Amino acid sequence: MPGRSLLFVANWKMQFSFNDVLQFCDAHSDDLIALDAGSAHQFVVCPSFDCLYPVYKCLQGTSISLGAQTCSSHEKGAFTGEVSAQSLAQLGCTYCIIGHSERRLHFHESNEDIAAKAVRLVNCDVKPIICIGENREQFERKKTMAIISEQLKPVIEQLNSLAHIPSSLCIAYEPVWSIGTGEVPPISYLDETFRLLAEQCSLDLPDTVSCIFLYGGSVNESTIGQLAAVDWINGFLIGGASLDFQKFRNMVSLCL
Ligand code: PGA
Repeated sequence: MPGRSLLFVANWKMQFSFNDVLQFCDAHSDDLIALDAGSAHQFVVCPSFDCLYPVYKCLQGTSISLGAQTCSSHEKGAFTGEVSAQSLAQLGCTYCIIGHSERRLHFHESNEDIAAKAVRLVNCDVKPIICIGENREQFERKKTMAIISEQLKPVIEQLNSLAHIPSSLCIAYEPVWSIGTGEVPPISYLDETFRLLAEQCSLDLPDTVSCIFLYGGSVNESTIGQLAAVDWINGFLIGGASLDFQKFRNMVSLCL
C-alpha cells in the first residue's frame, strides 16, 4: 500500500563472486546512499559470508543494514566450515536469514536446527529473518497453514524460553514453488495466509513482540505492485531481482 514503510531484504544467495561484489560496491556505493537518503523504506543486503566485510564497508554512511544468509546453530567449537552468530554480530550484521528453503532442501536443516540458530542470533543481538513456506504439493493439497505452523513452532517455543525475547521478529513467508519461478500466489490467498499467520503469532508470542511479515518468491518489477497492496505484508525478501541495482531501485519506487 503506498505510503507504508517497508523492509526490503536483498538475498544475494551465492550469485555474486567476491570480485562481482567488489564491482557492485564500486559501481553502486553512491546509488545506495541516494536510495537510502531518498526513501522512507528500510533495506537489508545479505551477501555470502566471504563478502560481508566489503559490503559492510560499502554500506558505511548509510542506514542500510547488513545481513547474513545463515549461521551456525552452535555457539562455538569444532564445527568446520560454520560461522557463528557472534562472528556475524562482530562483522556488523544486524540481520541473518535462517531456514531459507534452499537450506532446508540442500542442507537438510530441520525446524529444530533453525530454532537453535534463532536463539544464537538473538543472544548476539542479531535479528533473525525466519523463513517458512510450503512446497507446491503442499500448496495444492491446501496444507500451507499446517506446514508453516509446524515450521514456526519450535522457533517460537525456543524464543519464548529466552529471558529476553526481542521486541520485533521478522518472519518471511516464501512459498517454495514461487521462488525463482516467476509465479506468485493469488493475492486473496496471500491475504488469507498472512492473516492466519498473524493470528497464530499473536496467540503464540507475548504482546510485547511485534511481527514484521515479509513475502518472498518472485518479487520483481511486475509483481511488487500487487504484492505491496496486501496490507499484512511489511516487506519483501528478494532474490533474483535484487542482483540488478536498476531493477531493485525500480521495485522500491513502485512502493512509494
Ligand atoms: P526469488 O528468491 O526472488 O529469486 O524468487 C527469493 C528467495 O529465495 O528468497
